[in-house]
Amino acid sequence: MKIVNSIAVVNGPNLNLLGSRETHHYGTETLDAINRELLSAFKDRVKLEFFQSNHEGAIIDFLQALKNCGGIVINPGAFTHTSVAIRDALLAINLPTIEVHLSNVFRREEFRKTSFVSDIALGVISGLGARGYHFALLALLDRIKQ
Ligand code: DQA
Repeated sequence: MKIVNSIAVVNGPNLNLLGSRETHHYGTETLDAINRELLSAFKDRVKLEFFQSNHEGAIIDFLQALKNCGGIVINPGAFTHTSVAIRDALLAINLPTIEVHLSNVFRREEFRKTSFVSDIALGVISGLGARGYHFALLALLDRIKQ
């Protein structure tokens, strides 16, 4: 039987600036506040491993090092639209993955409609703000059947 200890919640570049960055798109909640809410909502169900980086390679290193992880919730930020390398890392580790975007990327610039992750993800949540992470975790837990 597969031992599942945790779910990883990964955020890409500029998401460390949540709270002050383009609040009309991303809201006023900081990433810390979002993560604290997730911790408290899911504390009885699963351990959460949080990671944010502005560096593509650091995100890949983190994904490759995951042990006993049951799935991934990832907002790759702008790397969504550019990174074959993050896509390949996700394919390599082969864990159920949900892609999250705070904003509705389909209502924005054309280039945001391309994702290197969506077609290999279990699902995509876009445009529901910070609650998107919460819904993604619920869906992953359902899938993993803890
Ligand atoms: C984002 C959307 C991306 O297009 C953008 O580059 C981000 C944030 C979102 O959460 O809506 O950094 O992933």
